Amino acid sequence: MKYIINSVVFLLVLTTVHAQIPQLGKAANSKVINAMTVTEKARLIMGLGMIIPGFTDDKLPPDTSKAYNPVDGSAAVTYAIPRLGIPAIVLTDGPAGMRIFPKRANESSTYYCTAFPIGTLLASTWDGAAVKQVGLAIGNEVKEYGADVILAPGTNIHRNPLGGRNFEYYSEDPLVSGKTAAAYINGVQENGVGTSIKHFAANNHETNRQKIDVQADQRALREIYLRGFEIATADSKPWTLMSSYNKINGTYTSQHYDLVTTILQKEWNYKGLVMTDWFAGDDGAAQMNAGNHMIMPGTKSQYEQILKAVKNGDLKMSTLDANVDRVLNLILQSQTFKQYKYSNKPSLAANAKVAKTAAAAGFVLLKNDHNALPVKTGAVNIALFGNCAYRTITGGTGSGDVYEAYSISIADGLEKLYKLDKNLQQQYNAYLDDAFKKIKEPAMFLLPREVPAEKIITAEEVAEKANNCDLAILTIGRTSGEFADHKPDYDYYLTQTEKDNLNMISNAFHAKNKKLVVLLNIGGVIEMKSWQDAADAILLTWQPGQEGGNAVNEVISGSVNPSGKLATTIPFDYTDVYSSKGFPGTPANNPTVVQYSEGIYVGYRYFEKYKVPVLYPFGYGLSYTDFTYSNIKISSAVFKDKLVVTADITNSGKVAGKEVVQLYLAAPAKQLDKPVKELRGYVKTDLLQPGKKQTISFTIDKRDLCSFYEARSAWVAEAGEYKVAIGASSADIRLNSSFNLQSDLVVKKVNNVLAPVQKITELK
Ligand code: BGC
Repeated sequence: MKYIINSVVFLLVLTTVHAQIPQLGKAANSKVINAMTVTEKARLIMGLGMIIPGFTDDKLPPDTSKAYNPVDGSAAVTYAIPRLGIPAIVLTDGPAGMRIFPKRANESSTYYCTAFPIGTLLASTWDGAAVKQVGLAIGNEVKEYGADVILAPGTNIHRNPLGGRNFEYYSEDPLVSGKTAAAYINGVQENGVGTSIKHFAANNHETNRQKIDVQADQRALREIYLRGFEIATADSKPWTLMSSYNKINGTYTSQHYDLVTTILQKEWNYKGLVMTDWFAGDDGAAQMNAGNHMIMPGTKSQYEQILKAVKNGDLKMSTLDANVDRVLNLILQSQTFKQYKYSNKPSLAANAKVAKTAAAAGFVLLKNDHNALPVKTGAVNIALFGNCAYRTITGGTGSGDVYEAYSISIADGLEKLYKLDKNLQQQYNAYLDDAFKKIKEPAMFLLPREVPAEKIITAEEVAEKANNCDLAILTIGRTSGEFADHKPDYDYYLTQTEKDNLNMISNAFHAKNKKLVVLLNIGGVIEMKSWQDAADAILLTWQPGQEGGNAVNEVISGSVNPSGKLATTIPFDYTDVYSSKGFPGTPANNPTVVQYSEGIYVGYRYFEKYKVPVLYPFGYGLSYTDFTYSNIKISSAVFKDKLVVTADITNSGKVAGKEVVQLYLAAPAKQLDKPVKELRGYVKTDLLQPGKKQTISFTIDKRDLCSFYEARSAWVAEAGEYKVAIGASSADIRLNSSFNLQSDLVVKKVNNVLAPVQKITELK
């Protein structure tokens, strides 16, 4: 009896003690936080660290089990506190798909993910619905492989063609960037897993990326570099946001209170979690004070900085607690917390179809003289040239890489519908097999991988192919990846071998009245003016993901009519881009500062304002059909709160197709210098059959009329006439109208923050 009583008492005590330890999800976060020690707090706001070359175990934050990563190859795992019911959650890269290791030690199962097309291609679809499908598919893989957050999408601006991570990003225009990001985020998060929109903000170079100070004026930051993030966070609710590596006007973004708290969390009301980029910044406590809630992947010195700052009062406990609270909220949302039983069997077959459809929707037909494309299937005998036709570059390297189970090269794809010249195929395959064997693996899996030099071909070989084949297709390719910017000489301009091959093929085939189609397998814009006349047709396929070859097939054969358009201008030459004068910063050998002297004049805003002619303008892309634009209507000639503009788009050609219709506004510029016009809306039509018409509509709201007035720290719409231009590209305006705003409108007053510390001067 005594024994029973003792046991009951013991159990009661145990239950009471346990009941006193608040458990995440059962007790309020504040109670869980109160129950934490300060070291637990300092530990929870960072990940488990990361072992990379030069980074030894003793630099890891304490109490870290190196071996622990439930989803092998994912980018980070958070810290667990089992006694408080706090599990570790898993964060994985992005953005072109989930990046985890496909094989695990002592296991026969594989963990391949789908390689989707790169960001630049997704933006070129101008189709939120298509991008959302990609997001949905990626989210399915994240969830079913047991991760909680994908570190994507990348939403920085294409400021300069040499930007090393342009492939991960969307556009030179913030509206396209923001809307594409929002579609991606909404798709992923519909699965109940999170995203991390990145890299906030002005992360436009890879050279010295962890130290470089971006010096820019408030207007350029507000209108160009932050605006895409503002649009995306308003149209979707990304669970997390990643601050960038660079400084803005002297302060690391992750340590920049005005950027991360004043603007993001106060002005934009962002409620998610902010995390640093990997090893970014130089002061963990400053990151906490800035409102950067989580430090990734976490180091011992950051941990110590935080404890020291708490002790000496530089970091208030209430601030640390607020950051811990955001981390707990993220964990509460996660599938791991909900103990979701993931299958390790995502819908890879269905997702591959999504990858193919998206790829074809984002190809941009740049040139198509005498209807060189589409090419009838069947008897056509194709001479297929170019390394990348046989080893198509599916995506970039670095964190944006994806380990896919297979990829369909352009040759694999075309072979399904056409006869490819066997001898060429054998020659390229033999050359590439050998060349790839000679290439050394990079020192770390994230670093850029070398690719073989373009195979040299001889005039005799080409002449023989021109005799025996019906058509030449030449693929020109470029790799892209994290850690390095592109070099003008190799990346931007064609190499001598590429030029020689192109000219030889063009001359030989044209001499026989046969055509040359060029396919561009690239991550960002390259020089084209010097060689584009040599080709009859040019199809920009970007880095199209693992299903690229099948998508190429569909567009070449015409079963899919190309409908992508450029979300970034192709200039005549690199030197036509204003920022080329100071890229990637000064001093040239080891840049620590980059001045954004062009202000808001990036991309078409610059080319139009300064009348610099371009090769292929922003918004441009051909189709196998034609569209006519008619019947523009505007709901009122005077702007009050909103306006609706409608127009009819008719397929006036012979095959079905989709058109990307763009609306630009030219604002009055009496008080402030303004761009000639700016994109304020776009719609991709449905697939229109020949003769069919669709009425499309755009809603213009107050904010669309605004520019950022630094002197007033406000978004202001200036009174006067606004010109409405609807077109097929920024240079092909088909319909015009206008409306009036009777008096100035201060649409949004904001804080006077992010002012440059240094004077921004013109680039010489
Ligand atoms: C990249 C991030 C990435 C992170 C984790 C960093 O080097 O800049 O985009 O998400 O690594 O892999």
